[in-house]
Amino acid sequence: MERQAFLYEGKAKRIYATADPDLVLVEYKDDATAFDGEKKGRIANKGILNNKIAAHFFELLAEQGVPSHFVRHLSEREMLVKKLQIIKVEVVARNRVAGSLSKRLGLDEGVELSRPVLEFYYKNDELHDPLINEYHIYALKLATKEELQQIAEQALQINEILVKYLAKRDIILADMKLEFGLFNGEVLLGDEISPDTCRFWDANTMEKLDKDRFRRDLGNVEKAYEEILSRLTGGKN
Ligand code: C5P
Repeated sequence: MERQAFLYEGKAKRIYATADPDLVLVEYKDDATAFDGEKKGRIANKGILNNKIAAHFFELLAEQGVPSHFVRHLSEREMLVKKLQIIKVEVVARNRVAGSLSKRLGLDEGVELSRPVLEFYYKNDELHDPLINEYHIYALKLATKEELQQIAEQALQINEILVKYLAKRDIILADMKLEFGLFNGEVLLGDEISPDTCRFWDANTMEKLDKDRFRRDLGNVEKAYEEILSRLTGGKN
């Protein structure tokens, strides 16, 4: 499947049309941003690594009965996905305290939550993706009750699958951000699952293996992304 007209450029990806109106091509870039675009940089080979990591997670989820927009891996930096009507809600699933939750509730980073926590954020760059709840979602008509119920169910299911899968590879899934969209009226997981959108911690050393290395200038960012890919594929990448 060849790329056709350029459609959209996001912070980490470019989207192109394809010959099939139901499918778009996603190209993963090396650009990295943090703190709402205030910090900008590049992580060498990030696009290649995240394309492989995201494809791996989407394939794993499909095997376990959770569909997504993923159709197939196309090239080093490209994957083919279903064209979704994006739902403007970002869903964060948390298993450990970190990042904004640590600040908001004054809890120490690393503390285990007694059960997974789901949070919703309004996907709106100008407003800096504010935290919202289900009442806002219905009032602003961002999703229907049925859609939000499906989103929450899928997010918890995805979290459970990934926590177990990653634990076997000595990785703690501290938290992750998921996005969903509609395809023929069906709620489908979209965007990506990668070290850009998840917090991955080494289960033995608690070393950070994700974008927090870029956000906090910890160094060895590319190495951390490579380590995640290598643990997912058992070194066969
Ligand atoms: O910053 P915060 O603690 O709320 O982030 C929770 C999770 O969501 C982290 O894994 C982070 O990488 C991800 N996230 C994201 N895109 C955003 C905000 C958060 O991928 N715009």
